[in-house]
Amino acid sequence: MNHSFPFVLLLLAGAVAAADTTSSARAKRPPPPPVYLEECTGCHAAYLPRMLPAASWQRLLGGLPTHFGVDASLDAATLAAFRPWLLDNAGDAQRFPVAPEQDRITRAQWFTRQHHGIKPATWQRPAIGSKSNCGACHGQADQGKYGEHDVHIPK
Ligand code: HEC
Ligand code: HEC
Repeated sequence: MNHSFPFVLLLLAGAVAAADTTSSARAKRPPPPPVYLEECTGCHAAYLPRMLPAASWQRLLGGLPTHFGVDASLDAATLAAFRPWLLDNAGDAQRFPVAPEQDRITRAQWFTRQHHGIKPATWQRPAIGSKSNCGACHGQADQGKYGEHDVHIPK
């Protein structure tokens, strides 16, 4: 009888428990509030809280009048209606030891990892144009949905 057998079982049980926590955490994620979808998806996809750390969201929301070269200002009441959702559900320090450059999702390590198979020339196709253009490939990005079953890279 192999002595490491019970240990392997223990490891397996741990892995199952970890997977369980992850899927239930996913099920409990609150969906984007309608006001966020209205105000923040006019120019690009509905980016999700966990895609950036809270510090990045704070800076972005504090700088909306000069948002990546455009004026995306909102009044205080509108901002207050979705700001807590964005900050409370932001990515944690484990996922973001440092904030991505320019507070861009497309500069985050997780983004690079998830998209490592995509060649530089693919991003430049006319139908895509920019890494920030999530909706070119993620069919429901305007609803904040990025599941792998709904990905299609345009030619
Ligand atoms: C008037 C248009 C406009 C509105 C409204 C707008 N944005 Fe943007 N946003 C932009 C542009 C332009 C960029 C830069 C895109 C690029 O570089 O391709 C950008 C980029 C971003 C990025 C970085 C994406 C990346 O490259 O990783 C985030 C995050 C972001 N916006 C969040 C928001 C949030 C949150 C709101 C709502 C409060 C919002 N935006 C509203 C125009 C807008
Ligand atoms: C050129 C097409 C393309 C663009 C543009 C793109 N993605 Fe993706 N994305 C993919 C592909 C392909 C995958 C890998 C799907 C798989 O795992 O089979 C992926 C995976 C992902 C995943 C992981 C999905 C999962 O459940 O495994 C997330 C989250 C994601 N992308 C978010 C984004 C965001 C946010 C943006 C914009 C800032 C973006 N993507 C832009 C093609 C794209």
